[in-house]
Amino acid sequence: MKFFIDTANLDEIREAQDLGVLDGVTTNPSLMAKEGISGEENQLQHYIDICKIVEGDVSAEVISTDLEGMITEGEKLASLHPQIIVKIPMIKEGVKALKYFSEKGIKTNCTLIFSPGQAILAAKAGATYLSPFIGRLDDATTDGTELIAQIRHIYDNYGFKTQILAASIRHSMHIIKCAEYGADVATCPLSAILGLLKHPLTDIGLEKFIADYKKVNAVNA
Ligand code: G3P
Repeated sequence: MKFFIDTANLDEIREAQDLGVLDGVTTNPSLMAKEGISGEENQLQHYIDICKIVEGDVSAEVISTDLEGMITEGEKLASLHPQIIVKIPMIKEGVKALKYFSEKGIKTNCTLIFSPGQAILAAKAGATYLSPFIGRLDDATTDGTELIAQIRHIYDNYGFKTQILAASIRHSMHIIKCAEYGADVATCPLSAILGLLKHPLTDIGLEKFIADYKKVNAVNA
């Protein structure tokens, strides 16, 4: 299972990279806006800066909703850096754009996935990654992780190569459920990745190991 971090914040990306378990980054226009990155030149430079921190894939999203616009934007993004993945929304023109980029050998991430039907279309169009938004489904009182299981089952039935990139992850249990259900990638906030570290018995156990060592080795606390 690959771990991506879902942020445009360079400090958080560096912290996750330093942990040694990071495989890539996903961004979206909301995450870029949260960091106050405005203007095309700054946005393009920011994607390059992210690519310099991590070694893996970095998703950069198009804003256009027409085919021509998505192609122009996507090609510009893809030419920025070999690690860039063009993020395309699941709309009719987006499906056509996925097909176009797939035939040109440009990697894509189909975003805003909320149903198995959308997942089938994206795979048929040759998407490299597929981003089901599990947290937003939970918000709408539907178990988002069930969608991951459903898509895994469908993709395995037909040998679809599109990688399931579980997105809109809100906490560590989402990551664990996605791992159980066979997501290829989880893109997570830093807090959800760090949350995997935590167990009170680990802390209690470590405290006792250190105390016992000090008892016999006369180490000053
Ligand atoms: O990157 C897309 C996705 O992860 C958004 O998450 O928390 O805004 O639903 P969220």
